[in-house]
Amino acid sequence: MNSIPTFSSMTPEAGLKKAMELSRPDIIAEISASNLKGRGGAGFPTGVKWNFAASAHADRKYIVCNADEGEPGTFKDRVILQEYADLVFEGMTIAAKAVGAKEGILFLRGEYTYLRPHLEAVLQRRREAKLLGPEVLGAVFPFDIRIFMGAGAYICGEETALIECIEGFRGEPRNRPPFPVNTGFLGRPSVVNNVETLAWAACILQRGADWFKSHGTEKSTGIKIFSVSGDCEKPGIYEFPLGISVLELLKKVGGEHARAVQIGGASGLCVPASEFHRAIAFEDIPTGGSVIVFGPQRDMLEVLHNFLEFFVDESCGQCTPCRLGNRKLLEGVEMLQAGTCSMTYLRELCALGESMQLASKCGLGQSSPSAFLSVVKHFRDELMGRVTLPTHG
Ligand SMILES: Cc1cc2nc3c(=O)[nH]c(=O)nc-3n(C[C@H](O)[C@H](O)[C@H](O)COP(=O)(O)O)c2cc1C
Ligand code: SF4
Repeated sequence: MNSIPTFSSMTPEAGLKKAMELSRPDIIAEISASNLKGRGGAGFPTGVKWNFAASAHADRKYIVCNADEGEPGTFKDRVILQEYADLVFEGMTIAAKAVGAKEGILFLRGEYTYLRPHLEAVLQRRREAKLLGPEVLGAVFPFDIRIFMGAGAYICGEETALIECIEGFRGEPRNRPPFPVNTGFLGRPSVVNNVETLAWAACILQRGADWFKSHGTEKSTGIKIFSVSGDCEKPGIYEFPLGISVLELLKKVGGEHARAVQIGGASGLCVPASEFHRAIAFEDIPTGGSVIVFGPQRDMLEVLHNFLEFFVDESCGQCTPCRLGNRKLLEGVEMLQAGTCSMTYLRELCALGESMQLASKCGLGQSSPSAFLSVVKHFRDELMGRVTLPTHG
């Protein structure tokens, strides 16, 4: 399935027209009341982010749409941009009105270059319809959007690396604070939001915060778009309310016989069948939307090998815990596969993974050991058969 029913049911530009009638604080109040949390994975409250940027004093502010979508198993932003680009640009324009920005930048994943002509055509159509340009909808509100092409590095999805990249530097995360809402693109306050977050912002302005809150849980309001792949009958794009249990989701996609599910991509959690009752929500299992189903025959060490190779390749190398830690974890998996890893060394690798979570500079190194640690925790019996036992004699 590739259509998103709720997005399809929206009236074009109704959210933007509503925003044009509201004051800046009232737009932010509506987003805050909806309790929309960022759909890129971290789940930061969007209303709070917009409010910080709106309160910052600066000659220029920016709205940056994060369409880098590099997390393994995630492809929902690609579909949203292909099918609902107007809704995303509408959301960016609403965000601009709310914080006082005049320029928007869509950071598009290098692998999505083929989408660029379509997106440029949508932007041009919006300019002609006065939905972008010097006077949006006839008001004294200039705003336009340009597209910046990424070059295929996963780390450039991290918001400060993304900003470095747009500025023309190597895509490496900055120290935080200061945060982009205060010191972002060219040192100016910048809102960086995920593609899906911006589309939901437009829906919320159109239908209201109460409509959004009528879906999901108290702490994780609304609907979420999921990219489902792996060992299931119906992989694809789905919308489900947050709070759905792993098992309910698996039943919908024909994957209920899975032995485990990776939620949140390679940097997410590996959830075993014994925990399929858990909820996909920020208060339990958070996610940017990637769901990878592992069927009964999957070798979890092979899965880990695959993820860790990815992190070794994608680490920017700036800090030691991530640069070396991912290599050590990958070597450890290879030792387990070869039957040369002792129990003591496996314990040391787990301690290393925990140190990486604490000591890495950015979210890549902080989350890259998660899959390793959850597989060791939940598939202990299986791994015990692969460790070398001490010999006596
Ligand atoms: C290594 C790494 C990669 C990331 N990749 C993406 C991405 O592709 N898309 C995205 O929206 N957020 C990504 N993020 C999260 C962003 O840093 C940021 O939190 C997000 O764009 C904020 O938008 P939101 O509040 O709307 O979710 C990534 C974070 C890290 C640490
Ligand atoms: S955690 Fe990894 S990706 Fe992030 S700054 Fe350190 S080396 Fe770079």
